Amino acid sequence: MSMIEMVKAKAKSCTKNIVLPEGDEVRTVEAASIIKKEGLANPILIGNPDKIAAVAKEINVDITGIEIQDPETDSKAERYANELYELRKAKGVDEAKAKEMIKDPMYYGIMMVKLEEADGLVSGAVHTTGDMLRPALQIIKTKPEMKLVSSSFLMDCPNKELGENGLLVYADCVVNPCPTAEELAYIAVASAETARVLCGFDEPRVAMLSFSTKGSAKHDLVSKVQEAVEIAHNIAPDLLLDGEMQFDAALVPKIGASKAKGSPVAGRANVLVFPDLQAGNIGYKITERIGGADCFAVLQGLKKPCNDLSRGCSVDDIVNTVAMTAVQAQG
Ligand code: ACO
Repeated sequence: MSMIEMVKAKAKSCTKNIVLPEGDEVRTVEAASIIKKEGLANPILIGNPDKIAAVAKEINVDITGIEIQDPETDSKAERYANELYELRKAKGVDEAKAKEMIKDPMYYGIMMVKLEEADGLVSGAVHTTGDMLRPALQIIKTKPEMKLVSSSFLMDCPNKELGENGLLVYADCVVNPCPTAEELAYIAVASAETARVLCGFDEPRVAMLSFSTKGSAKHDLVSKVQEAVEIAHNIAPDLLLDGEMQFDAALVPKIGASKAKGSPVAGRANVLVFPDLQAGNIGYKITERIGGADCFAVLQGLKKPCNDLSRGCSVDDIVNTVAMTAVQAQG
């Protein structure tokens, strides 16, 4: 069974309510129908019911039984606006602004999750990553034990000798452009947790990546990763984590053994933490486009799961992301 098939089976075992704020978007409507039919989650579409029904008719999909909420007319909108005002007044949001903001399906959906009227949210088929992330960061906020929100990409590679039967976790490839050493350490800890929850790894083995292995090069950028390793050991002393190390030293047993002798991670890493967003984002795209990996992105560190889609996403991508969100909501 592939990783995503395992995730789907787990999602079905305990149905969660997942909000789709881009409710009248054509791929989202089709995905909602599949999610409902397969019992992966209980999808909630945000938008105008007539518009959503028209889209469903046009593409000939059945949305019977799927909950729809319209921020323009739903009686809950006023309560959500009041709560939003309370949460953001210190940041300059007044009551009139909150009423306006809640008409935005993204903020409406986020408030549903915040107020525990939904278990998670998936968006980004239309919104940019920044526009999807900002409401989640502002309102859902970071888990108390986490310093920041970040992301993991679950990379299912054709070469089954890599990682855990071809499965690798890459972080952070979406959120934090220039993490500090402390932030990198928290990204590593959050990624190990994602590897446990979504990939079923019993033993996450985290490599902190660099262009240097164990002091082979001297540079401020290398020192930052070395510092991150130290901080991560303090935050999570039981986690198998090592670095700094190069990509090949992390993955190839022979190279790991020669460049990082005695490392518990080198040559057998299954979680790879990149030193910044440029490296992480480029790295996952190379693995996908040249390496032929299937990749699945999730956000980590939020109090409640909210996940981003690519604007080029397929219906399957939305279905898969909803299943992963449902599993994250199970905890
Ligand atoms: N974790 C937790 N909270 C955060 C984080 C974080 N990593 N980053 C920002 N915040 C919070 C801030 O504290 C702030 O909260 P507050 O308003 O309550 O004080 C709020 O989020 C907004 O912070 P800003 O700094 O104003 O956020 P900004 O909008 O400038 O940027 C963002 C945040 C959107 C995450 C930005 O870092 C970003 O654009 N990242 C890159 C996204 C991207 O383009 N990724 C690559 C493409 S995706 C792909 O290829 C799959």
